[in-house]
Amino acid sequence: MDPKPPSPPHVLIFPFPAQGHVNSMLKLTELLLPAGLHITFVISAKDHDRLSRFTTVHSRLNSYPGFRFHVIHGIYEGTMDTDEKLTLMIDSMPKVTTPVIRNLLLESKVTCFIADGIMGFSLDAAEGTGVPVMFFRTISACAFWAYFCIPDLINSGDLPFQGTNLDERIVNVKGMEEFLRRQDLPSFCRSGLNNHFFQEITTVTRRTTEAHALILNTFDNLEGSILSQIQKHIPNIYTIGPLHSHLKSRSTSQSTISSNSLFEEDKSCIDWLNQQPPKSVLYVSFGSLATITNDQLTEFWYGLVNSGKPFLWVIREDLVRENNKVPCELEEGTKERGYLVGWAPQELVLAHPAVGAFLTHNGWNSTLESVVEGVPMVSWPFFADQQMNSRFVEVVWKLGVDMKDTCDRGIVENIVKEVMEVRKDEFVNSGRRMAELAKEAVSSGGSSYRNLDRLIQDIKLMSA
Ligand code: UDX
Repeated sequence: MDPKPPSPPHVLIFPFPAQGHVNSMLKLTELLLPAGLHITFVISAKDHDRLSRFTTVHSRLNSYPGFRFHVIHGIYEGTMDTDEKLTLMIDSMPKVTTPVIRNLLLESKVTCFIADGIMGFSLDAAEGTGVPVMFFRTISACAFWAYFCIPDLINSGDLPFQGTNLDERIVNVKGMEEFLRRQDLPSFCRSGLNNHFFQEITTVTRRTTEAHALILNTFDNLEGSILSQIQKHIPNIYTIGPLHSHLKSRSTSQSTISSNSLFEEDKSCIDWLNQQPPKSVLYVSFGSLATITNDQLTEFWYGLVNSGKPFLWVIREDLVRENNKVPCELEEGTKERGYLVGWAPQELVLAHPAVGAFLTHNGWNSTLESVVEGVPMVSWPFFADQQMNSRFVEVVWKLGVDMKDTCDRGIVENIVKEVMEVRKDEFVNSGRRMAELAKEAVSSGGSSYRNLDRLIQDIKLMSA
């Protein structure tokens, strides 16, 4: 009798339960499944419910015989718009999830565990199971490297900040000596060394050296010099991004854009975009976590209306912390040129020819989605990694203007005009160049394409 064929490698994937994390780890999953890997995707009950209601990814994944969701109940489900709330979430996770993960690792013949690298306790959960852990980080290499260098910045006396001047230069993050300022460091660097989130994120980032490898949603031509700094500490890195574009490039189906949204998309904005002239519209979105005050809402709104540009603005149900009445003149200006939605099909929007610029919080997924479509950016980073991303957008990639730490109607109006009129050609040209590099990276033979193949082969070798 023929011996039983060996079972395919089985990968356990575990994202942090937030849109920007679940979204990109689902894309990783969709890239791994066609290679014949079996995958168990661990997800909170709330996110699982939203995925099954709002997306096609749920049924697409379930059509693979080797795929299954493993739903975890009892995870914190509140908002996460401050360091404190994020900490609450991160702190509550190990108790609920560690026994589940450990059990899966011991009972389900797992070959490799790909954990969201923001959850260092995954290493503890895997301890003694013999299953190699790879960390996947949803942030840019530049933000990861800044997080990684925090202990060095403490040693050099750069942290905690002495005095209040946020413009002061930081010269002790290798590879960024020429342009980094205090205000570009991750937002939690501003809150002092005793801040729990600061300590948590610093520790977990250093713990990446304990993982078998690091997977990043970026590409070599975008962040090569920073990646070589990281590689001195973490030799085994797989850069396989931009994931959404990689997925499209490998997809055999006709559907080119696959939404993984945890919120219901309002697709009516595409009809509205269809009626606008090419490159005329400013798309405005602050991602899934950021919140703003009513004053900030008003300043943005005046800035947008006064810029005279048509605008498509995502105002999530929970975007504004306290909700007051919008002045009538703004309602008028919005009726003339604006379109508001609660949640947009963002990848479709950014790919639309009518979109001329993106006012963004520079969450890493949003930044990459803009890079891929060559859409210039007006950056208004909210927290964490975003302060670093916006600095790179302006001074390294030259894809837009960083207006961090200001929120004033005049400045919004001027920067929108600067990006969409005054320096339009400059940004459109650098956007086009960068978009080409992104495309090359995920095309057959490109760096991300090869790295994904290497990742798949390495996982297969683990089970051999
Ligand atoms: C957060 C962090 O900010 C981010 O830097 C980190 O990498 C992941 O976690 P978030 O703030 O939500 O995520 O921003 P971002 O990373 O940009 O992710 C938002 C995602 O939601 C993007 O993929 C975007 O396409 C999608 N989105 C956003 C929509 O589909 N519709 C919208 O209306 C707004």
